[in-house]
Amino acid sequence: MKITKICCIGAGYVGGPTMAVIAQKCPEIQVTVVDLNEERIAAWNDEDINNIPIYEPGLDKVVAEARGRNLFFSTDVEKAIDEAQIIFISVNTPTKTYGKGKGMAADLKYIELCARQIARVAKDNKIVVEKSTLPVRTAEAIKSILDNTGNGVQFQILSNPEFLAEGTAVQDLLNPDRILIGGDTTPEGQKAIQALIEVYSNWVPADKILTTNVWSSELSKLTANAFLAQRISSINAMSELCEKTGADVNEVAKAIGMDSRIGSKFLKASVGFGGSCFQKDILNLVYIAKSYGLNEVADYWEQVIIMNDHQKRRFSNNIVQTLYNTVSDKKITFLGWAFKKDTNDTRESAAIYVADDLINENAKIAVYDPKVSRKKVLADLDYLQTRTASTNADNVLSFDNPYDACKNSHAIAVLTEWDEFIQYDWQKIYDSMQKPAFVFDGRNILNGPALEAIGFVYQGIGS
Ligand code: NAD
Ligand code: UDX
Repeated sequence: MKITKICCIGAGYVGGPTMAVIAQKCPEIQVTVVDLNEERIAAWNDEDINNIPIYEPGLDKVVAEARGRNLFFSTDVEKAIDEAQIIFISVNTPTKTYGKGKGMAADLKYIELCARQIARVAKDNKIVVEKSTLPVRTAEAIKSILDNTGNGVQFQILSNPEFLAEGTAVQDLLNPDRILIGGDTTPEGQKAIQALIEVYSNWVPADKILTTNVWSSELSKLTANAFLAQRISSINAMSELCEKTGADVNEVAKAIGMDSRIGSKFLKASVGFGGSCFQKDILNLVYIAKSYGLNEVADYWEQVIIMNDHQKRRFSNNIVQTLYNTVSDKKITFLGWAFKKDTNDTRESAAIYVADDLINENAKIAVYDPKVSRKKVLADLDYLQTRTASTNADNVLSFDNPYDACKNSHAIAVLTEWDEFIQYDWQKIYDSMQKPAFVFDGRNILNGPALEAIGFVYQGIGS
């Protein structure tokens, strides 16, 4: 089957960049990205390319090249479903906040709504692709909804999880480590897999396209995220031991990373991992394991989250303790609010939890992040429901300039590893601060000895 029309439901951090790259690399395929969120679609269509809703290095160029040619953003979900041969589902699958599995299981209501809408609208055969990260065996539920329409339309369901990381999404999409496609072993299933392979073959080498059955594909995604997050919790666990023993976690990470069996990537000790995926997906894995009665498996993976929560709490406790056991009415400057550099995404960012702890201690938090607005910072804190929105607003000061953010502050906490923080005039910052001037480097990006030479009291993670 020659694919000429693709639709993607969900114009978020995955749907937007993924479809933009498919459109760029497959000019003969019309790609329509749809979303219920009108504001988001309007931003994707904004004439000023700087206003697209997601900040990712290089994304503006890809969108500018394809938009209006074969890449379209729309709120007309039904029309896009009706016309497409392949429908990607890329909607959010957050942790449930109610009912059975609250706080652990993935909330599949958005997925189910998509499946029902596809079932209602489709008039000819479709390939439905799970792009969202889903619990293993979700395809079964989707299939059962799609197969009960009674209108004779045939659906093939594929699992094609996305492995991009934010901040490097465009590069990850252009040069993926692998593309994973799970499908049925039936001839129709294999035909559907082949159709999707042909799309990716426009730019991905054949040896990087891996096919498997649907369940293995679904579970591989959760497993990949669990392994990645586990490395961070493992090195963070060591960072605490390093602090007690005089070892340096950067040196330890370097030494173990040179073992080719361990590898050097993803061994950076930090204030704790954030982002919309790791915690959600591990909690989901834990829930699935528990639902099969596999309590040891569940406990094993849950420890990754427990360690991460501990690391965030440890960071805020240390700030309070070091500032003579009180931060009440002290100005503490946060450099960075995003969960990692080169993104405007703040979901589950460690900064949110550290700020929440410090506001409990009556600190004033001054935030500077090159890509995050005050509105988002306050929304993140309000979401925790620790205190009223007006109390949060009173305790958070926002700045568009790092030097103003640091002026008169008692301490600086680095929460995101933005490159620009390294280049600042640290002497100028020191001169403007209360003394002693403290720096808590939650990302180990600053030059500790150089800061100490200026006069700062510097503390990194794990040394
Ligand atoms: P997101 O919240 O940024 O985007 C999801 C979009 O789907 C939203 O704009 C929402 O309005 C829209 N939506 C929800 N229900 C809809 C419906 N019924 N019809 C039309 N639109 C609807 O989420 P995201 O970060 O893009 O993540 C999407 C999925 O991809 C999740 O399952 C996530 O786990 C997975 N994933 C995310 C990343 C990442 O880095 N963010 C990486 C890999 C996989
Ligand atoms: C992750 C996975 O990497 C990606 O494959 C998947 O598709 C989605 O989830 P993402 O969350 O966007 O991607 O970013 P990632 O680079 O994995 O970073 C996650 C968090 O871990 C960030 O807060 C980052 O700062 C932190 N981290 C990462 C560390 O603390 N140390 C490290 O060594 C690496």
